[in-house]
Amino acid sequence: MSLIHQMLYESKDFGRVDFGEFLGSLATELMSSYGALPARVSLLIDSATIALPIDAAIPCGLVVNELVSNALKHAFPGERRGQIKIDLTQGCADEVTLSVSDDGVGIPEALDIANATTLGLQMITLLADQLAADLTMQRANPTCLALRFKVAQ
Ligand SMILES: Nc1ncnc2c1ncn2[C@@H]1O[C@H](COP(=O)(O)OP(=O)(O)O)[C@@H](O)[C@H]1O
Ligand SMILES: [Mg+2]
Repeated sequence: MSLIHQMLYESKDFGRVDFGEFLGSLATELMSSYGALPARVSLLIDSATIALPIDAAIPCGLVVNELVSNALKHAFPGERRGQIKIDLTQGCADEVTLSVSDDGVGIPEALDIANATTLGLQMITLLADQLAADLTMQRANPTCLALRFKVAQ
């Protein structure tokens, strides 16, 4: 929440924020809040320097927060080791792809993201709608949720 506040503050001059920088701060914050994990789970960020308009940056920030939290909570039970990766790329012109992937246990077959009954995944679909994003999910090898959307230049 303090990071969202910081993002709003930073955007007040140009209406945009450096989303790569935000991802770095978010990653540090999440890893430290999951205390014991960093030794066996690494978090990698592969991000181009992308300035997002604030009205896209906020829903994107919430999406990444939920997806990385999910990976930390659900993907590596017991002593399982692995990696979580956040990718942010700008394709042709105004198209942005944001994905969070992990090499953990995978998302159960029974779970239908379009008709999710749990709050986290419901929020992901709502935020994807808000961004008019294309949302895709791969359950395993690696588990990956990706959003592709357009931003104003
Ligand atoms: N990265 C992941 N790896 C494995 N399972 C996952 C992952 N993300 C989500 N899940 C599964 O999807 C379920 C629903 O996620 P979510 O709606 O965020 O609810 P919550 O995180 O509160 O359990 C989780 O309980 C978990 O079983
Ligand atoms: Mg969740």
